[in-house]
Amino acid sequence: MEKSIYDASSYPIQVSNGRDIGAGHTRGCWLEFSDLANKDLGSDPIFQRALRAANARGTLVSTNKLANLYLILRYAMPDPQAHVFEFGSYMGGSAVFMATALKLLKRGSRVFAFDTFEGMPETDPVRDLHRQGDFADTKFDGLLSYIRDNELQTHLSLVKGRFDETLPGVLAEQSQGPGLLHVDCDIYEPIKYVIRACLPHLGPGSHIVFDDPLHGSCLGAFDAVQELLIRELNLTAEQAYPHLVFRYPSLPDA
Ligand SMILES: C[S@@+](CC[C@H](N)C(=O)[O-])C[C@H]1O[C@@H](n2cnc3c(N)ncnc32)[C@H](O)[C@@H]1O
Repeated sequence: MEKSIYDASSYPIQVSNGRDIGAGHTRGCWLEFSDLANKDLGSDPIFQRALRAANARGTLVSTNKLANLYLILRYAMPDPQAHVFEFGSYMGGSAVFMATALKLLKRGSRVFAFDTFEGMPETDPVRDLHRQGDFADTKFDGLLSYIRDNELQTHLSLVKGRFDETLPGVLAEQSQGPGLLHVDCDIYEPIKYVIRACLPHLGPGSHIVFDDPLHGSCLGAFDAVQELLIRELNLTAEQAYPHLVFRYPSLPDA
């Protein structure tokens, strides 16, 4: 039977080297070369409503990246009820996008959106171009109102503060670990911190999605991925466009 990215029972599509290279190739090529976000997903009412929600709040995340997150969330997560942890939410656009999709899909899981919501903490002066205080204009009260007005409390929790101050408590409280990490915090040290802290809590084949490492302004993010995921954990990427995506723990090869 032909395998389709729009059929959750098709996954994994083709496993090699611990990741679903079939899923990575299909999502990546269709998004980059076939305008999938506008064509196929143009008539998907859940994607379209989630996209409107992201735009209503404001997001730095491109439509192709939101589409990739949607395809992973909707079809590819081995445990569809596992939570989503987002590291770096700023005005809340990508978090609201994923929470709206989860709600419309009637999932029991939620998005935990981790951010200071007051701008970047201290950054590495050599590796990072971003500086302390960047992204401080979060309009946090507006985000709280948006969540209340759209009854998203069931699917979105804001976790305000520095990751190293907030993440240990959330991990300790949750009986169910995250199944998708959306890492969009741009800078070196916090990326290494959140990945190391989450690894022991990830269920089989969890997705780790990095927004930043291939951007010109985020070499610190690439350093973190290179050092921790590639050199230390010996992982091979599942997808390189529009995101760098890894699977952890690795999928068993057929
Ligand atoms: C590029 S923005 C996130 C964009 C967002 N996902 C969107 O939809 O537009 C990066 C965010 O990471 C946050 N951040 C970076 N390091 C952090 C840390 N150690 N603790 C908490 N927040 C952090 C910043 O405050 C900033 O809001």
